[in-house]
Amino acid sequence: MELVEERLTAVATGYPGRLGEACRATLAAGGKRVRPLLTLLCARRDVSLGEPVLRGATAVELLHMATLVHDDVLDDAELRRGRPTIAHAYGVETAVSAGNYLLARAFQELVGAGDAAAVDVLSATAVGLSQGEVLQRDDAHRLTVTQAENELRCERKTADLFAAACRLGAMLSGAGDQAAAALSEYGRLIGLAFQVFDDILDCSGDEADTGKRPGADVRDGTVTLPLIFALEVHPELASLLLRGGQSAADVAIVLRTIAASGALARARGVALGYIEEARRVLAACPDLVERDLLAEVAAQVVDRYS
Ligand code: IPE
Ligand code: IPE
Ligand code: MG
Ligand code: MG
Repeated sequence: MELVEERLTAVATGYPGRLGEACRATLAAGGKRVRPLLTLLCARRDVSLGEPVLRGATAVELLHMATLVHDDVLDDAELRRGRPTIAHAYGVETAVSAGNYLLARAFQELVGAGDAAAVDVLSATAVGLSQGEVLQRDDAHRLTVTQAENELRCERKTADLFAAACRLGAMLSGAGDQAAAALSEYGRLIGLAFQVFDDILDCSGDEADTGKRPGADVRDGTVTLPLIFALEVHPELASLLLRGGQSAADVAIVLRTIAASGALARARGVALGYIEEARRVLAACPDLVERDLLAEVAAQVVDRYS
């Protein structure tokens, strides 16, 4: 992970002016680095960790950072990693360019691994990510979003990148197709759980832990699993949510109602279901060196900050 961090720093310091400054600030603000960690843990260990795997891990985090910078434009988010978002600190123009820069550098990093199929994997993931974000915007303030529709969106915008992070670790270290497919499925499942838990944290998390302002999803009309479940119990929430431009007091009422409805525990149950399935996939995956650590990451995904 230290080597990945060095490569990320090299990318962030490699561009002058406001744009470079903005990228360095996002990088320095931290982040959990869970995706590159997965790439390393999914790599075969009977060979030493080679340059291709490091490049894959770095590329995955760069694509992730690019999507965060753009996501904060789309979601009009104020805080990221405990600091003002690039969009808020530098303006939307700089944020769009910084995201483009990080995206381009992600692919530059991966191309150096010399594996065209790996570039294809990351490219398809990036395409899906933008589809996921567009789906979410199209569905803003639509309170009829179903659990299945929400799952598809979570898959495109989050789980597919977790899957790609795992698959790239396997592919770039010469693991076989069977291991790559199993690890990709493990990644998809913990990615789904990760997004559901992020949606729970948006309702009930502490800003000091998450580095993000709670209630962002309610404010920008994103209908997430906790809200879908809460609406089943409290359909009257619709009148507060549909009018848009909610006041801080309205947002607080919605968050309190979601918490009181039992929706957070129910959503956590869904996330735990994905983790259970991920554990089964892991148990059936042959020749895994870091099986225990991968199981530990799965457990942490739905237990972070507790
Ligand atoms: C945030 O991802 C975006 C989601 C998919 C919910 P992370 O929670 O991994 O963000 P950082 O990298 O740790 O800041
Ligand atoms: C994940 O969704 C967005 C990306 C995949 C970039 P969110 O919009 O919930 O992520 P946060 O909460 O802003 O990190
Ligand atoms: Mg967001
Ligand atoms: Mg969120």
